[in-house]
Parts: sequence; C-alpha cells; structure tokens
Amino acid sequence: MSSTTGQIIRCRAAVAWEAGKPLVIEQVEVAPPQAMEVRVKILFTSLCHTDIYFWEAKGQTPLFPRIFGHEAGGIVESVGEGVTDLIPGDHVLPVFTGECQDCAHCKSEESNMCDLLRINTDRCVMLSDGKSRFSIKGKPIHHFVGTSTFSEYTVVHVGCLAKINPAAPLDKVCVLSCGISTGFGATVNVAKPKKGSTVAVFGLGAVGLAAAEGARVSGASRIIGVDLNANRFEGAKKFGVTEFVNPKDHKRPVQEVIAEMTNGGVDRSIECTGSIAAMISAFECVHDGWGVAVLVGVPNKDDAFKTHPMNILNERTLKGTFFGNYKPRSDIPGVVEKYMKGELEVEKFITHAVPFSEINKAFDLMLKGEGIRCIINMDG
Ligand SMILES: NC(=O)c1ccc[n+]([C@@H]2O[C@H](COP(=O)([O-])OP(=O)(O)OC[C@H]3O[C@@H](n4cnc5c(N)ncnc54)[C@H](O)[C@@H]3O)[C@@H](O)[C@H]2O)c1
Ligand SMILES: [Zn+2]
Ligand SMILES: [Zn+2]
Repeated sequence: MSSTTGQIIRCRAAVAWEAGKPLVIEQVEVAPPQAMEVRVKILFTSLCHTDIYFWEAKGQTPLFPRIFGHEAGGIVESVGEGVTDLIPGDHVLPVFTGECQDCAHCKSEESNMCDLLRINTDRCVMLSDGKSRFSIKGKPIHHFVGTSTFSEYTVVHVGCLAKINPAAPLDKVCVLSCGISTGFGATVNVAKPKKGSTVAVFGLGAVGLAAAEGARVSGASRIIGVDLNANRFEGAKKFGVTEFVNPKDHKRPVQEVIAEMTNGGVDRSIECTGSIAAMISAFECVHDGWGVAVLVGVPNKDDAFKTHPMNILNERTLKGTFFGNYKPRSDIPGVVEKYMKGELEVEKFITHAVPFSEINKAFDLMLKGEGIRCIINMDG
C-alpha cells in the first residue's frame, strides 16, 4: 500500500476551462477511488482527434471545465472496494470504452459495446455515485470518456483498464490505448480484407495509418489513401499505402474517382476522418456485390448519413466500430504482446514528444495536421 492510499492526491492536471481555449495546468485534488474504481498515475499520454472535437465543442455538447485525454499509459496507485484483478504497481492502459465482463455484449464474441461501460461522451462523472473525482478548491471538474488522462493522477472504472506486460515501454504502447488499436482493429477485426484485395483508407492520421497497416498485414494488393492534406502522402508509404487520392484535385466526387481506378470499386474501405462527406464517399466507393465499408471517424452530433438505398440493395455493406472491436481487458494485453514480439510496430506512429507543461503544443500540431502522434510526458 502506498502512503497516498485513501487520501486525496494534489497534482497537476491540464484543465480545459472553455471551448477552444488553451488548456491551463492547475493543481487539482483527485479523490480516492470508490467501489470498482482504480486511481492511476499517468506517465505518458497522447492526443487523439476525439479530444480535439470535444475541446473545440463546435459539433459537440460543450461541457466545461473538463479534463480531456484518453490515450495513455500508467501505473495503478490504489484500488477501490471490490477491485480484485488489479493491484498497486500494475501497468495499465486506460480505454474510453469498457468491459464489465458480465453483460450480453461482454459475453458476445461479436460485440465490444458493453452495456455498462460503452463510450459516453456526455457523461462527466463516475458511475458509482454520479460525482466527479476531480476538484479545484471544492469546485468539481468534469471527467471525459471515463479516462481524463491529462492529469498526473486519474480515477478510472476497473472495466476500462487493460492490465499489460510491465516490460512494455509505456511511452510507446500508450498509443495502443486508442488510435492504433482502433484503426488496426477496424481493418483486421471488422473490414477483414482478403489477401490480394483492394482497400481504400479515408484519413491518414494515426487511426487511418493503423487501418492501412492492418490492410498491409492482411495482404491487400492495393491500398488507396485518401486525404485532403497532401503532406500526409509521402509518410503514408511506410504504412503500406500504395496510391493516393486528394479529393481537392478532382472535380468529381472522390467515390467516382476510386471506382474508376479500381474497375468498379474497392473491396473494402475504412473511414477515419470524422467528416460526414468522407463517410458517404467511403461507403459509395466500395464495389457492389461484396464491398464492405467501415466507419470509424466520430461525427458531429447533428450529422446524418445520406445515400440512395439502391447503393445498399446492390449488395454493399456498411459497418461501424468503436475501438476496432477490441474488448479492452480481454484483447488489449494481447495487442501489447504483438508489439513486444515485433509483430506490430508503434514507433513509426510517434513523430513528436512534449513535456506536460507544453501540452498545448500537441494541440497546435494536430490542428495544423503536422505529425502523427505526439507523446506528452507527464514528468515534464
Ligand atoms: N471509432 C473509434 O473508436 C475512434 C477512436 C479513435 C478516433 N476516432 C476518430 O477517428 C478519426 C481520426 O482520428 P485521428 O486521431 O487519426 O485524427 P487526425 O487528425 O490525426 O487524422 C485525420 C485525417 O483525416 C483527414 N481528413 C479530414 N477530413 C477529410 C475528408 N473529408 N476527406 C479526406 N481526408 C480528410 C485529415 O486531413 C487528417 O489527415 C477522428 O474522427 C477520431 O475522432 C474514432
Ligand atoms: Zn481516441
Ligand atoms: Zn459489459
């Protein structure tokens, strides 16, 4: 037991006070974990585009003040009542969607949409008592997707923590707690391209490049990368992308361009942009008869997906996935082992690093579309 068990911890957290305004490093109080909760010392976190959407709050519910962050790695500091499978010192990856291991979804081989712990972007409190574990001088600060990793300490439901090999370097494998697992899983677990097939990937950020990597290891013969940012193309070759399409270079809808390039459409497409236009193009560019499109990007709250029903009658399939269909507790330790065995590279996704005190630089980089993942070192 550590000396902080059962005590309030005072530590630094990056607080978003207002939509779109730089985060402010504040001293926060982090309450001890309650029933089925775990307090985690975060060592490394990174920034995913989902954090940006809810921080900008342009197409999402504005909920402030809030502590964002959901892609991270850390060490268990203490556990609450009823937690039996984690102990202080365990290395963990927090995940924005959970696994209670008891509901119909958790018991199904097909679903990772846990009834109790599935992603809820508008919930700002812990489930056990409907309260926040973060406060500043008594004023509560909202949680984000049950993880809030932009804090030196955070409290997470035990079902949202993957216990991983303690030998795995947390400054690398932290990216497996969202973006890389999401993209890779979207391809290998959901789109499931056959060897020799053609695959289109919309959006070449970390999630899309991981989806491309999934297509490469599945033996796809052609991987077409689609992005509005031409700076993405050169680097994407390292992830197996063989051809590039920038919708800005064409007067016609990009789905028509892709259909022409592929003799009627790709076998699989994976959308990793969050743009509703790209989601529709990603669906309409798959081949009739067998094509499967998988949506991964997080849309605005008022978006609506519109396509002619004939596109579906013509035997195309539309799917969607959170977290690449992985169950965080059951599957993510194995994904980390794939990295440890050299079967899954994560280093090539990591292009920048900043100390925690400069976390706003990570936001600037993502807003400018520079780099892939930026690791934020909580020590700095
Ligand atoms: N479903 C999930 O479980 C899950 C998990 C993580 C992230 N996401 C979502 O995945 C998406 C990608 O996240 P990321 O962190 O890789 O973001 P990113 O910003 O690093 O990459 C997104 C890329 O998409 C490109 N893009 C944007 N609009 C486009 C369009 N209309 N056509 C073509 N390209 C376009 C951008 O130029 C950028 O290169 C986001 O929407 C994020 O919220 C979903
Ligand atoms: Zn994410
Ligand atoms: Zn469940």
